[in-house]
Amino acid sequence: METSSISRRALVLGTGAVTAWAASPARALLAAADRAGASPAIEALLARMTVAEKAGQLTLNAATWASGAANALNPVTAGASFEVQLAEVRDGHLTGVFNGHGADMAQRMQTVAMRESRLKIPLIFAADVIHGFRTVFPVPLAEAGSFDPGLAESTARAAAVEASAAGIDWTFAPMVDIARDQRWGRGVEGAGEDVLLGRMMAAARVRGFQGTRGLAADDAVMACAKHFAAYGAAEAGLDYNSVDVSERTLRDVYFPPFQAAFAAGALSTMASFNEISGVPATANPWLLDTVLRKEWGFGGLVVSDYTGDEELIAHGFAADAREATRLAFMAGVDMSMQSNFYRDHLPALVASGAVPMARLDQAVRRVLHVKQALGLFDDPFRRIDPTRERTRVQTKAHQALARDAGRRSIVLLKNDGDLLPLPRAGKRIALIGPFAQGQEDLVGPWTVYGSDAEAVDLLTGVRAVVADAGMVTATAGSGVEQEIPGGIDAAVAAARAADVVVLAIGEGQSMSGEAQSRAAIVIPAPQLALAAAVAATGKPIVVALRNGRALEVSGAVLDAPAILVTWFLGSQSGPAIADILFGLAAPSARLPVSFPFATGQEPYHYAHKSTGRPNPAGPPRDFKARYRETLNAARFAFGHGLTYGRIAYSDLQLGTAKLAWDGDLAVRATITNSGTCAADEVVQLYVHDVAASITRPVRELKAFRRVHVAPGARVEVVFTLRRSDLLFVGTALKPTVEPGAFRLWIAPSAEAEGVSGTFELVAA
Ligand code: NOJ
Repeated sequence: METSSISRRALVLGTGAVTAWAASPARALLAAADRAGASPAIEALLARMTVAEKAGQLTLNAATWASGAANALNPVTAGASFEVQLAEVRDGHLTGVFNGHGADMAQRMQTVAMRESRLKIPLIFAADVIHGFRTVFPVPLAEAGSFDPGLAESTARAAAVEASAAGIDWTFAPMVDIARDQRWGRGVEGAGEDVLLGRMMAAARVRGFQGTRGLAADDAVMACAKHFAAYGAAEAGLDYNSVDVSERTLRDVYFPPFQAAFAAGALSTMASFNEISGVPATANPWLLDTVLRKEWGFGGLVVSDYTGDEELIAHGFAADAREATRLAFMAGVDMSMQSNFYRDHLPALVASGAVPMARLDQAVRRVLHVKQALGLFDDPFRRIDPTRERTRVQTKAHQALARDAGRRSIVLLKNDGDLLPLPRAGKRIALIGPFAQGQEDLVGPWTVYGSDAEAVDLLTGVRAVVADAGMVTATAGSGVEQEIPGGIDAAVAAARAADVVVLAIGEGQSMSGEAQSRAAIVIPAPQLALAAAVAATGKPIVVALRNGRALEVSGAVLDAPAILVTWFLGSQSGPAIADILFGLAAPSARLPVSFPFATGQEPYHYAHKSTGRPNPAGPPRDFKARYRETLNAARFAFGHGLTYGRIAYSDLQLGTAKLAWDGDLAVRATITNSGTCAADEVVQLYVHDVAASITRPVRELKAFRRVHVAPGARVEVVFTLRRSDLLFVGTALKPTVEPGAFRLWIAPSAEAEGVSGTFELVAA
């Protein structure tokens, strides 16, 4: 939508990019998989397969090698032993496994498939490679805060290089669910609340995982855009809960990141656990066939989520296993994860005619096509190499990238009196809080292969950058959710003996992620008591929040002069935070989710509607959309984040007050840094459609640009707005744009005024 290359790319992925998608090479690639006869080799193989072997190609199970640890992230289901799993491979009853254990395991299993199975169809090895592999990068939510799709692409690339070296062909990532309710624990795996940012991060991660040399490259892993769809819209933020959203909202908000991922070439998607308006996604033909296949032309693979087909029974949608199998399969789920329902029930369903052979062949064809695209028919061992597994992981370059990604994900919420950056010499520093030191809660949720033990904690990171390590102390003061006897006294003593306190508090890593919804998004009470006691010493406090979601920040924590949001930053957590604390790097990230005043506002997101009685600012007024206790605004808005510079926005200039139907509107603003430190400012362009046939959000992000502003410098930023940027899902549920008045802002956050003006889109 604007002049930078990033935003131009974003344009072709937008809601209005239906035409761009229709013409995209990815679509052609995907569509080929779905045409019978597209690959003679695959057709020949298909013709030789028994129904049982076909059902086997549609059956994916958790690896059972060595221990159950592979599957610690999922509920325990009756697991086979490794020997039983090898027998299943030998019999052609398994398409592959997920969350396994490296090249040795893959080698053994693939050898059985290639030497001992009748048809010698290679196995596929999948895994939850969500934010890194052995080198762990910031959780995706944190990385979205960088507002830098290039960074997300780099870390996904590095993760793919490491994972593929351990035999992995397919990652269950990126998670592209828009998350607007911060109680929902899985927001940590995605890019936050905004559609534009979500689309850009989705596409970037797909590009990173799949690489640019084709899927057959030995360091490419196939991406899986998940969870299709609207998983993040769970009622009350409760994981797995029902979703009841309009088709318009699906198309306006929840679908676009999937469209962006597919346009970027993602060859697979995962059906979500939730129902949508009464029909579970896993058995939803409208979603999986009408929209995904027929409308979007997706020809890749749809996999269920873990036992998602089996869960149709608990949903109350299927009476028994046979019916659950038929409903999921006929709706469009090609591959079944973990339940064995397809293996157990498809043969009888086909024999009875309840499932046509043509549908079975279609699903198997998709699986075989994917295996072909990954190069597995040419060389089933191309990603299985114990030497590469040792040499390609945790390289110096990946560790450096993790550190860089960490510092570019840290958000500076406030910095009163320029407390930060801290001097590297001459100050006694007390690190206080459950995250001050120790090998816990560093890597964050959904880390299957990296470990906290291999990550660097805050104390180590800080001691490495200060002049005198002896001037830094660390005291827990409190556990994450429990008091420590005498802890507060020790912390107060440590604070008194220091010149400045870094209070490392927040959420443990088990408090977000799957099934980790919270009824109150607060810092646990023992830590709040710790913060109050430390604040009472009068020492200057820098809060370093650890968190997997937006938090309600209040009391002594809110009153601290400086607050950093440090999320879960992965392998290089401590060094990355230290770099920001001491100014070796400058903060530049922005909130990808709004931090509300109170949990009760959730689902709070900046792009909400106005209502007929808005009460946007100032004290709450009667008979207005407000809460008794609080403004209905963000405490810290989406897009907010300070730098070490002193930034001001001025001089909005519109190239024209009337945007012609096929014209361009240049929008300029000046960004000035009157401070003494350089700043990387994320300049954001928001638009509001003043009156439309469908009410529009109070603001929508349309573009953003990162600009470097040296101390004392002024930089002019130019965006170019076109009609296609103003599309929305109209009355006919189709992308629509209507002439009329629009307001726009170039601003430092979604709720800051910045500079604003109006223009009119003039009818053709
Ligand atoms: C369930 C989760 O919802 C999904 O995201 C994940 O990929 C699978 N488990 C496999 O671990």
